[in-house]
Amino acid sequence: MLKGREGFGVVIIFFFIGILICDVHGFRDGGGSVLENRGIITGRKQKQQFPKQQPQKAETMCNVYEGSWVYDSSYPMYDTATSCPFVRKEFDCLQYGRPNRDYLRYRWQPSGCTLPRFNAEDFLKRMQGKRIMYIGDSLSLNNWQSLVCLLYAGVPNSNITRESNTSMSTFTFQDYRVSVIIFHSLYLVDIEQESIGRVMKLDSIKDGALWKTMDVLIFNTWLWWSVKGPSQQWDYIQEGEKVYKDMDRMEAFHKGMKTWAKWVDAEVDPTSTRVFFQGISPSHYNGTEWNEPGATNCARETEPISRSTTPMSGSSPSMNVVKEVLSSIKKPVSLLDITAMSQLRKDAHPSSYNAFQGMDCTHWCIAGLPDAWNQILYRELAA
Ligand SMILES: *[C@@H]1O[C@H](CO)[C@@H](O)[C@H](O)[C@H]1NC(C)=O
Ligand SMILES: *[C@@H]1O[C@H](CO)[C@@H](O)[C@H](O)[C@H]1NC(C)=O
Ligand SMILES: *[C@@H]1O[C@H](CO)[C@@H](O)[C@H](O)[C@H]1NC(C)=O
Repeated sequence: MLKGREGFGVVIIFFFIGILICDVHGFRDGGGSVLENRGIITGRKQKQQFPKQQPQKAETMCNVYEGSWVYDSSYPMYDTATSCPFVRKEFDCLQYGRPNRDYLRYRWQPSGCTLPRFNAEDFLKRMQGKRIMYIGDSLSLNNWQSLVCLLYAGVPNSNITRESNTSMSTFTFQDYRVSVIIFHSLYLVDIEQESIGRVMKLDSIKDGALWKTMDVLIFNTWLWWSVKGPSQQWDYIQEGEKVYKDMDRMEAFHKGMKTWAKWVDAEVDPTSTRVFFQGISPSHYNGTEWNEPGATNCARETEPISRSTTPMSGSSPSMNVVKEVLSSIKKPVSLLDITAMSQLRKDAHPSSYNAFQGMDCTHWCIAGLPDAWNQILYRELAA
């Protein structure tokens, strides 16, 4: 059984009022290869329905990021208690006592089209023989876990193998030869242990040698660039021959993103690898942002903000850096522009319903919001 003691080096770090979890010591989850026996999962409550929904021509032009959340009692798309037995304890909100379940029943409704419901079998057939890798911090882990659950719940009885080491964790759907991988990288650029300490190399991406062998890459980084104090993951920062004790963090983020962009242009073969960048995931610690000036976290939130996103919502200095850098890349890269739609989901964080009872308004419950991110990924991959 995979729930419970997983042996991951899970570390909780309190900084500001946020919590950053499961980032520092990687994703090691027991090690070795574990063969899933789907027979142990009993009591599946509902057979998933997979209506054939082909996007219309007009719908492929639709901006899926402009829209709003609508209540739909046919959601969530899977039940974690019966259909995804390995949700990490940071994200397993129902297991840790979340009483209100309405957050599971919101569906993302773009203004100009309807997102197809996630169809695991169709996804796996389209992706047959391919390897999909999420690369980034715990918000990538959150997103990866959602895709694994969406797929796992949709193809009961299929043969699934699992392996991991300190830098990555892989689920392989053997019947389709599809691997879904999380690669742990807080900054995308390298951190190296040297005699002076840990040095962040702003202009080097050594892990890219493995990344470029994948078929689909979904990158994300930001959360850790602003972290200072004892949780900071480096001692010095190096650019070219120059070594600094610190620098403006937005500037460092910009330089790191530029290095990543250069790597994409130099190394990725667009005929064999699709590249996505997962936009910045918003947190909810400041009630002023949703007309509750007294609120300093998401603890009492049970409903999304009932507004539509606009082309301007979701902008921030860090997101402006992401957009500027993406627009400078010559090779095709798609932005998964999740920021504005996620800003509306003040209700979708674990808050204290996690194994640590720490207040987490940074990550997202699984099942939950990241399932909508993956519905969008599915649509993009199917287009
Ligand atoms: C599952 O797939 C693995 C790898 O292909 C294979 O070794 C194993 O025998 C399969 N298990 C079952 C139960 O079919
Ligand atoms: C983890 O496994 C991958 C794939 O087998 C390998 O490329 C990588 O070097 C391993 N990383 C570590 C830290 O062992
Ligand atoms: C909350 O957001 C408002 C408006 O953006 C800002 O003026 C205020 O300083 C923020 N409060 C905190 C505690 O960061």
